[in-house]
Amino acid sequence: MRSSRGLAGATGAPHARILGVGAYRPSRVVPNSELVAAIDSTDEWIQQRSGIRERRFAGPEETVQRMAVEAAREALAQAGLDAPRIDAVVVATVSHLMQTPAIAPAIAHELGTEQAAAFDVSAACAGFCHGVALAQDMVRGGSAGHVLVIGVERLSDITSPTDRGTAFIFADGAGAAVVGPSETPGISPVVWGSDGEQFDLIRSREDWRDVLGTTADPGSRIMPHLTMQGNAVFRWASFAMAKVAQQALDRAGITADELDVFVPHQANMRIIDAMARAMRLPDHVRIARDVAESGNTSAASVPLALARMIAEGDARPGDKALLIAFGAGLAYAAQVVVVP
Ligand code: UT7
Repeated sequence: MRSSRGLAGATGAPHARILGVGAYRPSRVVPNSELVAAIDSTDEWIQQRSGIRERRFAGPEETVQRMAVEAAREALAQAGLDAPRIDAVVVATVSHLMQTPAIAPAIAHELGTEQAAAFDVSAACAGFCHGVALAQDMVRGGSAGHVLVIGVERLSDITSPTDRGTAFIFADGAGAAVVGPSETPGISPVVWGSDGEQFDLIRSREDWRDVLGTTADPGSRIMPHLTMQGNAVFRWASFAMAKVAQQALDRAGITADELDVFVPHQANMRIIDAMARAMRLPDHVRIARDVAESGNTSAASVPLALARMIAEGDARPGDKALLIAFGAGLAYAAQVVVVP
């Protein structure tokens, strides 16, 4: 006789929170002066328009996998967890330059997880915040006890040094967070979305087949690089994203007065300032300004900026931090998290 029993339900934690944060910054510091000749620019122009003074470019040994593992180890140490406690590894990146497999399983293996679920997320600069949103749902839904979320990029591989609109912006690095169970809410519901009508504003200049040819008919063998209609992205980010940030506060059930820390995607200091003004953030809210020394590291930018604020004492345990990230797609995601 067939059983009439239903399926077992979800057995997740009541809430989720970030337990530890880690960062990896490549060793080579690249000042504006090193880049200006190739793009007919000046250090003054770059600082005035973007707030960027320098950035880090990865060396040959500093692969996507290497940087991700280093950042993840730091996050695990801060969380006080060993790798076997991690059930899932979510890697946000657009610069793992192999179509398949994802880089996440290699990272999970090198870290020493016990065959954790591992996959990459492609949401460009918004990828880390997408990962945190997934991780909190996984912990609450019962599909993972602890999730490692990593944002990692080697954008120097896919940025043309002669492209005036991007060469001084994009850079390399990795950041990571461990998300685990909590008795109280530590990550607010995400506000996220996409605007595919603006798909072309930030994108690879070509499809792989356009530059490399097909396997049967090899072409010119030029790496497709990133292009950006900077001014249009700038306007969208400065205005539309301030509204999304406000929605994230509303969903978290707090006002700007109750916020301690603001960690926006590190794209441009002028965007960061415009968002803070549009949201009327009170003076006591400490704002991440890592872009000055790290440039725009896409998926790595929010965790790198948060890690710096924790290391420098600007984000303290128990603080409420608003994270918001936006970029190619166009895709965006925002949530409030309690700082570990
Ligand atoms: O991470 C994903 C999200 N990305 C972003 O949020 C990036 C958003 N965009 C930006 O950050 C800014 O648009 C940039 C920093 C990329 C550019 O700043 P902008 O104020 O938007 O400059 P613009 O493109 O409007 O150009 C202004 C002027 C132009 O000259 P004219 O027409 O005013 O004479 C450009 O030709 O600056 C000139 N210009 C440059 N000059 C020196 C453009 N690029 C350069 C350059 N160096 N590299």
